[in-house]
Amino acid sequence: MNPSLIDVGIAGYGCSIPERSVDNNYFTRFFETSDEWIMQRTGIQARRWLKDDEKPSDMFTAASERCLEKSGVNAEDVDLIILATVSGDHLGVPATACIVQDNIGAKNAAAFDIQAACTGFLYALSVGRQFVATGAYKNVLVIGGEGLSRIIDIYDRGTSIIFGDGAGAVLLQPHETCQQGLIEDITLGADGAGAQFITRPRGGAMEQITPDILSEGTHQLRMKGREVYRFAVSRMTELMAWAMEGQDPEELSIVVPHQVNKRILETATAKLDLPPEKVYINIDKYGNTSAGSVPVALCECLDAGKIEKGKLVVMAAFGAGLTWGGARLRW
Ligand code: COA
Repeated sequence: MNPSLIDVGIAGYGCSIPERSVDNNYFTRFFETSDEWIMQRTGIQARRWLKDDEKPSDMFTAASERCLEKSGVNAEDVDLIILATVSGDHLGVPATACIVQDNIGAKNAAAFDIQAACTGFLYALSVGRQFVATGAYKNVLVIGGEGLSRIIDIYDRGTSIIFGDGAGAVLLQPHETCQQGLIEDITLGADGAGAQFITRPRGGAMEQITPDILSEGTHQLRMKGREVYRFAVSRMTELMAWAMEGQDPEELSIVVPHQVNKRILETATAKLDLPPEKVYINIDKYGNTSAGSVPVALCECLDAGKIEKGKLVVMAAFGAGLTWGGARLRW
């Protein structure tokens, strides 16, 4: 990083996962599938979904409040809220970050959403880091989360089994202030030629929602799983290798990857010769929570004492767009 910029660290963290757990057998009432098929192909045993009376912003708010409490920072002192999501409360307007801003009482904060699907948290982290690094802001709240259960087609067996709801948040500060979670490096990328692989094909501003679209369900999430799988394996492997290039492997505390699919993570781990215990996996209980997956996994690693002070944490994510991102932190 440019030496005139300020080093940025993570002062605190928090996450929120819905209580409602949906197991694999739930799907057998909608299409032909089995617990065994889903477990074997994805590693997912259950996912958490919002209850009917809960909103995505409820999770984003709870994660933010826990994060601020852990950071010891008052909501009024937050300068900026960046929320990464593709499944906020509304269809893009207003930004759900503004709803969170009001809920937590961060009345002095600017707020906006960004979307880079499953890579969203890493994009948001990178944007938030710039505001702190330039000295523009001192407290930037970065949230990644999804209410994907609200945008899937329950009858589409290639997608509905995979996705879950959840959210995590971190507070960025000058490293000098918080003395932990130094963000050493971030890389981001995109390849729009793969845009059609994971998409809500119809019902956007290109083509208004019609009764036909509603009955087809093509305003909901669709994925070409096989194509995504191949790309995800190589990209996740490259991102983890990028983060550790020139680093002493002994310095690695843990890899916190996007919980894309257990098989994808295991293949990447084996290709890089990483000990399996160095790669955190929680997809079995939460499914793929897209932008929520990395921050939720980070929170769990920190709470479980899996991150050693002074050692490296690697984050890697890949998703719709196509987009990808990696980060190396020194805790
Ligand atoms: N239960 C039972 N059978 C299913 C099924 C389900 N839930 N979903 C698909 N199938 C069937 C298919 O219809 C197909 O049947 P056919 O051979 O009779 O046509 C067969 O299983 C194989 O389908 P395929 O899509 O090739 O399976 P797969 O091994 O690739 O597994 C995914 C499907 C979605 C689990 C897998 O492709 C995957 O995880 N991809 C990555 C997706 C991902 O992680 N996306 C998130 C990006 S952030």
